[in-house]
Amino acid sequence: MREWTRDERYRVLKSPEEIRELYDRIQASAYRQRYHVQPVTGLSSDPNGFALHRGTWHLCYQWCPWGAVHGLKYWYHVTSPDLVHWENAGIGLKPDCFYDNRGTHSGSAISHGDELVFFYTGNHRDEDWTRTPYTCAAVLGPDNRPVKLPEPLFGPRDDHSEHQRDPKVVWNEAKRKYYIFIGAQTLDLRGCVLIYESEELLRGWRFAGELKVPGYESFGGMWECPYIVNISGKDVLIFSPQYTKLPGRAESTNHNVYLIGRMDYDTLTFIPEGPYRHLDYGFDFYAAQGAASIGDPDKAILIAWIGLPDNHYPTEEEDWEGSLSLPRELRIVDGKLRQTPLAALEGLRGAELVPDGTLPAACELDVAAPDGDFELALFTKADGAGGLRLKYDSARKVCTVDRTGLDRRFNEKVGEVLDMPLEAPLRALRIFIDRCSVEIFANDGEATFTTHAYPTEREFHYAAPEGVKLRLWPMNASVTDKFVI
Ligand code: FRU
Repeated sequence: MREWTRDERYRVLKSPEEIRELYDRIQASAYRQRYHVQPVTGLSSDPNGFALHRGTWHLCYQWCPWGAVHGLKYWYHVTSPDLVHWENAGIGLKPDCFYDNRGTHSGSAISHGDELVFFYTGNHRDEDWTRTPYTCAAVLGPDNRPVKLPEPLFGPRDDHSEHQRDPKVVWNEAKRKYYIFIGAQTLDLRGCVLIYESEELLRGWRFAGELKVPGYESFGGMWECPYIVNISGKDVLIFSPQYTKLPGRAESTNHNVYLIGRMDYDTLTFIPEGPYRHLDYGFDFYAAQGAASIGDPDKAILIAWIGLPDNHYPTEEEDWEGSLSLPRELRIVDGKLRQTPLAALEGLRGAELVPDGTLPAACELDVAAPDGDFELALFTKADGAGGLRLKYDSARKVCTVDRTGLDRRFNEKVGEVLDMPLEAPLRALRIFIDRCSVEIFANDGEATFTTHAYPTEREFHYAAPEGVKLRLWPMNASVTDKFVI
């Protein structure tokens, strides 16, 4: 692993030419994906500013241009007509003013009349490296580049710690107000959400209070990337609690969970109707955010970072890392979120293959699970040994995914074996493989499991019990990887 000095990590990009060589070099990587959004150079992490605006999907990601390191963060902007085909649109937000001198950190967007408005955290640090987070806004200009407002909407509160970031803006029709949800930490180091309100989108913001979530007063040390959405009349609160271990999640201290319930804007209370659940049971899934302004009250479109803070991935050696998940459709079924791949993804399938035990580097694999216990292994050697192994225990209704058998192991200390519990017996798996990422949808989205995997040349095989019904398609490319800065 390369050591970076602070100056190297926080270097300002002055000209695209400074990263041209890096871009050319990583194009040759065997792990560059075909149908997932990935960093143009360097590192990508959280999805940001995701919205549908005048028929185009806009999405940005946290981007550090220089390599696989969390340093000075930009927003890099991509656009799509259909959430499947994506094009690079260049830098969205740059850390180039006092308020964001050490990074344009995460945030959201909203389509407002003719304007697409972005809300982000300006990460200011002074010479002693003391942090002051500002909540800032920008409006998409006619050249498809956001233009920042000269002044922040508001600064931090001093009755909370320096961790106050990741604004999510929502409109509440009953109150006829906008609200901003900010991920935060109390002075005694508990995760929480701060709420601000305003009748107007770009001015007049006032602190409304700290969100109360009964039962969750002490649940992790910081709640990153809060997101709230109403689906079919229920409110869904999604957030990423940190600095805590949760049952069934091995040694990880970074999680992405959701609650379904009711958001009461009179008392600023989110009343959960059931337990928290993990959005995804995989090793690498974080900072999920839904698209704003999609205009369908019965669903949300969610996307996440395939990765976790503090983790390291093998492509660090190639000076890049990170990926966004496939956008997923979210609905509420039986009091739980159901997450399904977009129907339009089927358009990326090439001619169906006759399954022969070999695995294309970018493919979709659909498996009809037999009754009883079952084991499927991806990225095995030719003899079926090793790989990423999924074992279904029918008595417990749990799929256990074990990545200890891969040639390239990584993040061993965080845990290499995790369970994906199901409520119904396992019937079906839809698996999307894209060179270094794997997304598994069980039982039509009852539960999902997302992970990175970095197969070596000898690992492009799979092993399934004889007679298991399996369909396999190579997937065509849908994400252009052009050098647009
Ligand atoms: C989550 C996060 C956010 C922050 C951003 C910085 O991964 O830590 O809270 O805004 O990343 O890149």
